[in-house]
Amino acid sequence: MTWKQMFTSSIGQKFVMALTGLFLISFLVVHVGLNACIWANDGGKMFNAGANFMSSMLVIRIMEIGLFAGIIIHTIQGLVLTAANNSKRKIGYQVDYGNRGSKWYSRSMGLLGTLLLLFLIMHIYHFWVPSRLGGIGGVEELKKTHYEGALAAQYHDLYAKMVEVFHGSDWSLLIVILYVLGCISLAYHLMHGFESAFRTIGLHNNRYLKLLRFTGRGFAIIVCLAFAMMPISMYLGWVK
Ligand code: HEM
Repeated sequence: MTWKQMFTSSIGQKFVMALTGLFLISFLVVHVGLNACIWANDGGKMFNAGANFMSSMLVIRIMEIGLFAGIIIHTIQGLVLTAANNSKRKIGYQVDYGNRGSKWYSRSMGLLGTLLLLFLIMHIYHFWVPSRLGGIGGVEELKKTHYEGALAAQYHDLYAKMVEVFHGSDWSLLIVILYVLGCISLAYHLMHGFESAFRTIGLHNNRYLKLLRFTGRGFAIIVCLAFAMMPISMYLGWVK
């Protein structure tokens, strides 16, 4: 398959969706694991140490470029596939099998993906932009609180930023609701996407289909529940 076919044939496009999707799933595993450190309830010491260690590694910085490229390619290819599917079937089926034919969320991947994109834009504005482009003035504060010496000069207090966003602003309740809605969209998107990606790259057979489906749904529920509980825990003051 040539590069052109990869991005133009329908099987090539599905393949691109699957590979970028699996890459984004691997990012989610690291992200949820690192963020779970907030539940150490130590004022963010463990979480900040992990987050700052990661962002100080060159390999992570390079992967970050890959991550954003992955998000962009996955989004554009997804929109192209959704538009192509919609244009092929202008007149709906005469008999509507509803959820018996396929689940609503597998038929709504474009919509769920778009909601996720909106969530991601808000999310990146909240954390990535201030962290990478300046704006988290944690250095002096951190010297006073958790870290000392030269190391502190490189630290960003992302934890304090999270508390500010999810607990300390007039908009916190609305933001927490939007985050929970984002996590619900992600859960349904993954519910189909996880299984579908493995099927597309051929890593399945009839014998293991049930196991794959079970793993995909379990992954979607556990990861998204953990993500959703983070802003909720902060809003309710369970972690401070
Ligand atoms: C709901 C709970 C979540 C919290 C509290 C949270 C928190 C954070 C924080 C603090 C950062 C900044 C990290 C840094 O700059 O070093 C970040 C970055 C990011 N998050 Fe999340 N996140 C959550 C959920 C998600 C979800 C569900 C997704 C994907 C669908 C996601 C995707 C991203 C991306 C793409 C970045 C930028 C990547 C990077 O920093 O390299 N996050 N998140």
